[in-house]
Amino acid sequence: NMWLLLLSCAGLLGALYALWSWFIPAVVQFNGSLALLWHDVIVERCLDAFTGTTRPQRLLRAVQERATRGDSESVIAAIDHFCRHQEWAMNVGDEKGFILDSVVSEVSPQTALELGTYCGYSTVRIARLLPPGGHLITLEFNPNYAAVARQVIAWAGLEDMVQVVEGASGDWIPHLREHFGIESFDFVFLDHWKELYLPDIKLLEECGLLRKGTVLLADNVVCPGTPDYLEYVRKSQSYESHYFGSHLEYTRAEDGLEKSVYLG
Ligand SMILES: C[S@@+](CC[C@H](N)C(=O)[O-])C[C@H]1O[C@@H](n2cnc3c(N)ncnc32)[C@H](O)[C@@H]1O
Repeated sequence: NMWLLLLSCAGLLGALYALWSWFIPAVVQFNGSLALLWHDVIVERCLDAFTGTTRPQRLLRAVQERATRGDSESVIAAIDHFCRHQEWAMNVGDEKGFILDSVVSEVSPQTALELGTYCGYSTVRIARLLPPGGHLITLEFNPNYAAVARQVIAWAGLEDMVQVVEGASGDWIPHLREHFGIESFDFVFLDHWKELYLPDIKLLEECGLLRKGTVLLADNVVCPGTPDYLEYVRKSQSYESHYFGSHLEYTRAEDGLEKSVYLG
């Protein structure tokens, strides 16, 4: 009877492990809302409670263990490996990252702004493609995320071209000109909370930080979605807008990036 009980317990644990690490992720990857609920709420809270660490701390450790100091490509690869094989995280990801890379390379911005740094994954992707003298300001209002991002960016050897600025976008945007001596931005990557895309680009417009030809690239326009922002940039005479279809980071659920050129 003892053996039977032990065998049943082992079987139950095995089944739970298969559910947790394989079956549920395989099922939810086709539905963006379910994928976000599973990875971004349930799994993250369980692992935080179980390990006594945070997801950004675990991601940073993966970078320190797998990536070569000063090699930005290896930092990107280490984060993508962590997110595909250990834990999902809300970086723009490898698939949409290729679209981001091609837009940044095309624009070759001297001045770039990112709204929403998280652990610095997209920051590294953008900064490694800046031309000589190019500069990226990235805004993050969570001090713990900003602290991790600074270490990830330094590990990639890109700290000289990136400024991680702590604080809320709505508070910072009106002060970017005086504080950083910025005339206008050549490129803006929007990837913070989705309901803030629209108010924040209107604020950038009002503050004169967009010039004729400034390229805006907005992530997650389908999942979780930014309907008011999309309607604005697609209908406004001041923008020429184009959608790049792709998938929510590290899943097969539909998502995409919207590239919008400011026409003045
Ligand atoms: C989706 S994550 C950014 C991911 C990152 N761009 C990447 O691809 O690696 C969104 C981040 O925006 C930050 N955030 C949200 N609203 C913000 C705001 N108003 N100002 C500054 N940061 C904000 C959140 O704390 C979070 O870290």
